[in-house]
Amino acid sequence: MLRRLPPAGVPLEGRTLLTALGRTLVANGTHERVLRTLESWLAVPYVYTVNSGRTALWVALRALHRLQPERNVVAIPAYTCFSVPAAVARAGLRILPVEIQPETLDFDYAHLESLPEKHLLCVVAGHLLGLVNDVPRIRRIATAKGAYVVDDAAQAMGATLQGQRAGTMGDVGLYSLGRGKALPAVEGGILVTRDAVIAKAIHAELAQLPPASWPHTVAVAAKMLAGALLLHPGLYWLPHSLPFLKLGVTEYNPDFPLSRLCRVSAALLAEMQQKLERVNQIRRTNAEALRAALHGSSSFQLPQPLPYSEPVYIRMPVLAAHRELRQAVLARLQAAGLGASGYYPSAVCDIAAARSHWSTPQGHCPAAESVAQRLITLPTHPLVTARDREAMIQILREF
Ligand SMILES: Cc1ncc(COP(=O)(O)O)c(C=O)c1O
Repeated sequence: MLRRLPPAGVPLEGRTLLTALGRTLVANGTHERVLRTLESWLAVPYVYTVNSGRTALWVALRALHRLQPERNVVAIPAYTCFSVPAAVARAGLRILPVEIQPETLDFDYAHLESLPEKHLLCVVAGHLLGLVNDVPRIRRIATAKGAYVVDDAAQAMGATLQGQRAGTMGDVGLYSLGRGKALPAVEGGILVTRDAVIAKAIHAELAQLPPASWPHTVAVAAKMLAGALLLHPGLYWLPHSLPFLKLGVTEYNPDFPLSRLCRVSAALLAEMQQKLERVNQIRRTNAEALRAALHGSSSFQLPQPLPYSEPVYIRMPVLAAHRELRQAVLARLQAAGLGASGYYPSAVCDIAAARSHWSTPQGHCPAAESVAQRLITLPTHPLVTARDREAMIQILREF
């Protein structure tokens, strides 16, 4: 049997699937219960759900712009998911990429400090791969410039910094329930705030969103069932070999669908929520084992989590010393079916289609560009065995 690990994901048991399907069909207040559970788990008074993290970010940006209409510039990490600049463009705002540090994948704070405050609406934290950004520091800088902080924890649900949950440290925060995220529910986004004024502005934006259609809900149910089956390492070669599924393909597309969360994803969220802490612990254990084994390597750099933070490592980041090394290592790891991959193909400043939405004729962000060329991500999910880890380590040590 051809064994191929997926790069990320959470295996779904039959019982979870059946319960989620049952909850989808019977109107029993699942969605309301999910919201109440999230409110208490995140310790925030206002929680909303939508169909994706992109929609959550779009709603957050529009709500903030409603409160400060004279400001229209959104500072984002120069290396992040292409959905982030897409949501800024879709909201009619201007993109300002901010340099990152390869050592932590957090912002380059000297660059962040130097941003002009005029027109700056907000700074969006990114928590790349579940490594927590220093949001209190971002907040101090943003507040001094009269700007908001969006704590975008799309990749970091369950991560903490000094005991505070990623996603809850800004003026408004968000999570993604998309494929490969900490808590995947086929699709979905969660929006949170502690601020009653921002909550009111969010309400006004959400009022314009249509509910998910039934045909779409049925399609999500089909994806849930197919995903549960094909994530298995014995079957993952099948979706992996179908290019039209676009697995692992990153696209910049501001024309994304906007709607509320569908019932299937709400029901799956209710089920998966109970598993999040346990699955994150497995991710952390796998990542720390890889980190320990590669410690001191001169070929690979391992981005460090901040002190007093608990990352979630939706994948383990490893920076190859140079681009050619990355290509060679990835080829070996992929031939062995070990679920390794690159990540976003370029820095935000190199997305040509987004150029017309830049806030200024932007220069380059060399560190972000270098990360884009050198980053390898290793799987950490519960299907990774000790043997898989050993095989990854052995290949990396050969270089
Ligand atoms: C940092 C960040 N923000 C927002 C999003 C958008 O989430 P979604 O894919 O659910 O639209 C992503 C998705 O990968 C992300 O990584």
